[in-house]
Amino acid sequence: MLSIALPKGRLLAPAVARLRAAGLALPDAEALDRRLVWEGDGWRAALAKPADVPTLVRYGGADLGICGSDVLGEDGEGLAQPLGLGIGICRLALAAPKNGPVRSPADCQGRRVATKYPRTARKWFKTLDVEATIVPMHGSVELGPLTGLSDAIIDLVETGRTLKENGLVELVTVAPVEARLIAGRAALKLKQLETARLIAALRAGSGS
Ligand code: PRP
Repeated sequence: MLSIALPKGRLLAPAVARLRAAGLALPDAEALDRRLVWEGDGWRAALAKPADVPTLVRYGGADLGICGSDVLGEDGEGLAQPLGLGIGICRLALAAPKNGPVRSPADCQGRRVATKYPRTARKWFKTLDVEATIVPMHGSVELGPLTGLSDAIIDLVETGRTLKENGLVELVTVAPVEARLIAGRAALKLKQLETARLIAALRAGSGS
């Protein structure tokens, strides 16, 4: 039996579709109600907040997980990432108010940048040799520039609609983002065959 942690939210439907295409008879994402654990022939799925998927896999609550590379940039240590799934494609980007003082990463020197991705943001500014003050938030980081809390943000951008509606412009991509299959070390060792089969089926079902 393989257990897999799935992210609730916008990644759930494409993640379930990929697993169904790979032969796991999960119900459609719309049919998944508030039950947190679902079981079928040879599989068990646990529905978690995206940021908790690495934790579930790391501590053996699930053999495998599906998780955005944005989340893994914050909390990916000790996890194998055997496969990019071609879903959840978006980007982490630096954005700032249209007519504000920040027009480039260098302009963040000595300024505050709000983000849900403090680790990734710190690492990125370090590679650019820019000393910015990272302000960690849990959601709606657009509030940073809107309230004067920060001069810029680093956040996920998919369509760009959220930025636009809040008077922000995307300046530069910090990192491309894609959902990945993740695996714990124990699962890779103890369930080698089942894991390899699922990876092969996911690969075959990706159309690439
Ligand atoms: C993400 C991100 C932006 C939005 C970007 O939030 O934080 O707010 O999506 O998408 P867009 O470019 O298509 O407008 P999400 O909806 O995942 O919710 P969250 O803020 O609770 O993380």
